[in-house]
Amino acid sequence: MKKLTRREFMKYSGISGTVFLSKFVFPGSIPHVYAEPVKEKTLTAAFSRVDLGTGKPFVAWTYNSQVPGPEIRITEGEKARVLLKNNLREGTTIHWHGLPVPNRMDGVPYVTQKPVEPGGTFRYEFEAMPPGTYLYHSHASYQLDRGLYGAFIVEPKREARSYDREYVIMLEDWARIDGGGPEAARRGNIRPGMGVMGMGRGGGQQGAPLREPLYDAYTINGKVFGSSPPFKVRKGDKVRLRILNPSSSTVYTLRIAGHPLKITHTDGRPVIPAEVDALRIGMGERYDVELRANNPGRWHVYNIRDGSPAGGWPLGTLLYEGIQALTYKDDPITRYRISDYSQLEGVDEKYMRPVSSVDRIVRMTLSGGMMSPYWTINGRVYPDSDDLSLRQGERVRLEYSNMSMMAHPMHLHGHFFEVVGTGRTTGVRVKKDTITIPPHMGNVSVEFLADNPGVWFHHCHNLYHMEAGMANLVKVMPNLNNQGKR
Ligand code: C2O
Ligand code: CU
Repeated sequence: MKKLTRREFMKYSGISGTVFLSKFVFPGSIPHVYAEPVKEKTLTAAFSRVDLGTGKPFVAWTYNSQVPGPEIRITEGEKARVLLKNNLREGTTIHWHGLPVPNRMDGVPYVTQKPVEPGGTFRYEFEAMPPGTYLYHSHASYQLDRGLYGAFIVEPKREARSYDREYVIMLEDWARIDGGGPEAARRGNIRPGMGVMGMGRGGGQQGAPLREPLYDAYTINGKVFGSSPPFKVRKGDKVRLRILNPSSSTVYTLRIAGHPLKITHTDGRPVIPAEVDALRIGMGERYDVELRANNPGRWHVYNIRDGSPAGGWPLGTLLYEGIQALTYKDDPITRYRISDYSQLEGVDEKYMRPVSSVDRIVRMTLSGGMMSPYWTINGRVYPDSDDLSLRQGERVRLEYSNMSMMAHPMHLHGHFFEVVGTGRTTGVRVKKDTITIPPHMGNVSVEFLADNPGVWFHHCHNLYHMEAGMANLVKVMPNLNNQGKR
């Protein structure tokens, strides 16, 4: 494979703000240094004026004045050191979404740390393990939906697959109003048919949770369709796409016209490569996919809207080098394969011990959206929640059932879980940290080894559901016999 110069890499990754925490090794290439190792990175949370490419700027809450925040890349096993500076007017934290960090580094206000007060700082430090595609974001109230998030990528020491290029694709929902989504919701600018039926406007009484705002811009890497730079490929390229959904309340069905996508990882964990035509990706989920550039043209990257791949709303562009035509090609697809957990097969990894049997089965019934503004797990509203106390080394099955009319991407902090019903052929199940439970009696179970001591947040990654109570705590007591030690 050809080596990339640093300039080319910057161009390909479509970002100028990549933070190199250390030397960066391009997948599959001979290691060489692109930048001086940076020992510590600072992320400053502050208000900044942003323009998503619509010519209607507004004040978002940003890390280092950009949306998304700077991408952080680091090599497996290295120490991530990030200094958070808070220039906002309220407390904040950073959560390293998907990374099984030590509990005190997990960034959940009032659960793992006190929020960092305005003017204050906090130093996060943890080993970057295991390799994969992750997110970082504020975990304080609705701040994620105001713009406080970014990609966190852990490169493996040795890349198993080689690629000609790589792009990071972050899917984000925006309300273009000062303060973003929660401010739109507060003004009663809410999505029709969402949340509480027949209830009036957004904010309501003091302290009542907000309803999902009406978003008016959907971006990839902070730019709307038409102003986001196209993802450029050359015919014959094998392209890696890291697709992340840090949106606050949008589940996407993502497709790239003219191109099937081969799923290689979900939530950072490898799977046996599986080809699909569209990816269903809930909030907080990540998929790494491989795309074969063998269909030259200008193609839409788009979100399928009504179940027909023929329609949808465009988000970005895949463009082959040498294509001058400005018109987008259309493929005649009428039937398509959409990603489905149950069709995936996992891969054994040295980082994780398989969960062979379970010690405990716990039901997690998800409801809400009907009679009250609250969303619940087992009928309870966080912090008055049905928490789970475990011993380190315990193996637990969580049985989700969704009694509501909306999908809930459920996320467990500090752990990966195995998805029951996957690995049907090989017996090796898929590991994830966020899983979307479909609406209308959707049932999905996961199993995990409680191997990371601490008090962990477990919640729906629809930010508006999380803030409306759909959360509880999973408390893992350290086991002094070293059983289940990591
Ligand atoms: Cu991505 Cu509890 O968070
Ligand atoms: Cu939810």
